[in-house]
Amino acid sequence: MSQAIAYISRDTDGLHWKKVLEGALGPIDYRTLDNLGNTDDIEIALAWKPDRGLLASFKNIRLIVSLGMGVDHLLADDKLPDVPIVRIMDDGLVGQMSEYAIFWALRHHRDIDKYAASQRAKQWKPLDFVDTIHRRVGVMGLGTIGQDTARKFAALGFPTAGWSRTAKALTDIETFHGKDGFEKFLARTDILVDVLPLTRDTRGILDAAAFARLPKGAYFINMARGGHVVDDALLAALESGHLAGAALDVFNQEPLPADHRYWTHPKVQVTPHIAGATNPRTASPGIIENIKRLRSGQALINTVNPKTGY
Ligand code: OXD
Repeated sequence: MSQAIAYISRDTDGLHWKKVLEGALGPIDYRTLDNLGNTDDIEIALAWKPDRGLLASFKNIRLIVSLGMGVDHLLADDKLPDVPIVRIMDDGLVGQMSEYAIFWALRHHRDIDKYAASQRAKQWKPLDFVDTIHRRVGVMGLGTIGQDTARKFAALGFPTAGWSRTAKALTDIETFHGKDGFEKFLARTDILVDVLPLTRDTRGILDAAAFARLPKGAYFINMARGGHVVDDALLAALESGHLAGAALDVFNQEPLPADHRYWTHPKVQVTPHIAGATNPRTASPGIIENIKRLRSGQALINTVNPKTGY
């Protein structure tokens, strides 16, 4: 039986993945979107935003590897074959995500944009500062990334809380859960960091009511999914002055359309879905482990439950 591995993504790092996988597994029959060959040979798909129905057309597929931490891009395919799904999970990516959140949080916390404006005006103008112990960070989503991010904020001295669907207990992090907990969590959060997965329950979770619950002057960092955000509600909260600003890495539509208001909004920082770039060097060991486990009949790691969506 052929054991082809197919790289199903329009990103351009297909050959990079081939190299790291071959480094560990030896020569592999490696296919890419422009060279799928006989798709009956495909045993494993490394996928990012596959076209609807494509994976189902691989008759002998045994494993789908999500090249993103999020798997909503796979579960959006109503024809997805019923085979195990695993996702990438690696320390490099987790570290990048928390760096991203900490970068924007500190930039807001330390008024760096205001000092940059003062510099342009050649003004020496110290501002009042907010003591770190009074800047409350709230992390939505307490999976691997959320926990790492929350712990790093707590280590910097920010009073840090986390919110998750089901109850979780963490040292040094106040935790909230469920719908009631969400409102309380928002009300005590000055810097909101979103790392939730996108599921039926979380789509549109950040609507006008949610933004209104945040204290005035709050800052929002989204490195999860644009689908959590009702864009008009976020823009209204920014424009009314209720929110001080937002750093957005993910959007309802990606790439962000050229005429979208976020591009030019003075309170919005846009980055092109790079908060946690998938890095073959650090992500491949988990994938290689799963390929070996699949082939030797052992339990897989980093598995996804299609019902919960993470
Ligand atoms: C994602 C990722 O799932 O970048 O968005 O890993």
